[in-house]
Amino acid sequence: MGHSCHPSLYEALAASGLRALRYAREVEGIAKVIALDIEQASVEACRKNIEFNGPMACSKVEANQADARVYMLTHPKEFDVVDIDPYGSPSTFLDSAVQSVSDGGILMCTATDMAVLCGTSAEVCYSKYGSYPVKGKYCHEMALRILLASIESHANRYKRYIVPVLSVHMDFYIRVFVRIFTSAGEIKNAPLKLSYVYQCVGCDSFHLQTLGRVVTKNNSVKHYPGFGPTVPQECADCGKRFNMGGPIWSAPMHDQDWVLSILENVKSMRERYPAYEKILAVLTTISEELHDVPLFVSLHNLCATLKCTSPSAVMFRSAVLNAGYRISGSHVNPLGLKSDAPMEVIWDIMRCWVKNHPIKAQPPDHPGSVILSKEPKIQANFSRAVASLSKAQVKKVKRFLPNREKNWGPKVRAGRQITSKHVSIYGPNVLNSDENGGDPVETNNEEPSAKRQKADNNGVTQS
Ligand SMILES: C[S@@+](CC[C@H](N)C(=O)[O-])C[C@H]1O[C@@H](n2cnc3c(N)ncnc32)[C@H](O)[C@@H]1O
Ligand SMILES: [Zn+2]
Repeated sequence: MGHSCHPSLYEALAASGLRALRYAREVEGIAKVIALDIEQASVEACRKNIEFNGPMACSKVEANQADARVYMLTHPKEFDVVDIDPYGSPSTFLDSAVQSVSDGGILMCTATDMAVLCGTSAEVCYSKYGSYPVKGKYCHEMALRILLASIESHANRYKRYIVPVLSVHMDFYIRVFVRIFTSAGEIKNAPLKLSYVYQCVGCDSFHLQTLGRVVTKNNSVKHYPGFGPTVPQECADCGKRFNMGGPIWSAPMHDQDWVLSILENVKSMRERYPAYEKILAVLTTISEELHDVPLFVSLHNLCATLKCTSPSAVMFRSAVLNAGYRISGSHVNPLGLKSDAPMEVIWDIMRCWVKNHPIKAQPPDHPGSVILSKEPKIQANFSRAVASLSKAQVKKVKRFLPNREKNWGPKVRAGRQITSKHVSIYGPNVLNSDENGGDPVETNNEEPSAKRQKADNNGVTQS
């Protein structure tokens, strides 16, 4: 909630008012909910629904017909909570939305244009959000970070800045919750929270480059553009070139304390949440993410690059921990591993693994062959480290759950064949939907096949 004791909430794109009514009925202390929609039919349906929900709903929820952008621009800093839930991209609403949130208030924003945000048409993503996406295993986290960077950019224009509270990828959409504050001083730090991404087209190595830097001398702090490039022309691991993406939000995308407190809160009111298991799974995984490490590698992609068998996730995690680095999972992908270990250490661990698990000879110019042609600088230790299992795994809390209902979420456009290409965008269940005649799968699988698709036209590989 925002900072006020009796917060006011504005649902900019309310449709039939379902969500507005739930806020009014279920969130304690809400004083007023404005439900807006541009369509007359939606507003009429919303008004009927308000009446249907009785006097409390009638006293709190107000339905109006207007263009949300005009409404937000004419109500600056007025709402403690603003909810933007469009069909597809929220990009055209962001500029007015960041102006209508009160200082310390929350903007909640959904995006369902995952194909755009995940790199299917990078130029469209740039025109909508001001960032280039990169196709890769981490594309859904990158989508969250592109949306955050875009909201920050709009906020900065009005001397405002964001502090992310929670950023979630779920099913077929992303949703971010950010606080918005005003400070001409703090917006100077915006470039420190944004990075370009260099993704090698031959292997899994990626590197970040912060847009800005600060120099502190005596008591003065000066802001400068960042040093770069952070990568050579050719990947130090495999010798191929880099694609560049971003800028992305590279500061934490969740407020760790807030996530932990809401997790406790949810646990204490289990009976109030029909989707308790799913909420618990997502929040638990988020609470264990390394919050200061943007993006991640996939163990199976590393193995596919080297054409080797895969160590178990626990063994790989142990080797990273035993080498003195941190590692965690990622809520956007059951196979994602976030680590502060540099890519050269990650590859050294894999080189040590391949020494004991030899592979068939590959062409010498293959990225995997180039990587394996170098001797590891460290001796990887795969013996089990205490923290190699997440706390959730130790407590046997499920971290990824399938959708129970059939036909959940958007489908691939009519007439198109569903292929493994769609998995990266719509999730693994897409292959098992009715169109493909299969049963839903349990997505709690930590280690599916290491096989992956061939390099896409950017040269970056995907599962
Ligand atoms: C995805 S629906 C919202 C669903 C709703 N939040 C819910 O949970 O039930 C998007 C809605 O945005 C409305 N809309 C689109 N452009 C708008 C605009 N410029 N101003 C206000 N409403 C708009 C559409 O009429 C549609 O009802
Ligand atoms: Zn490379």
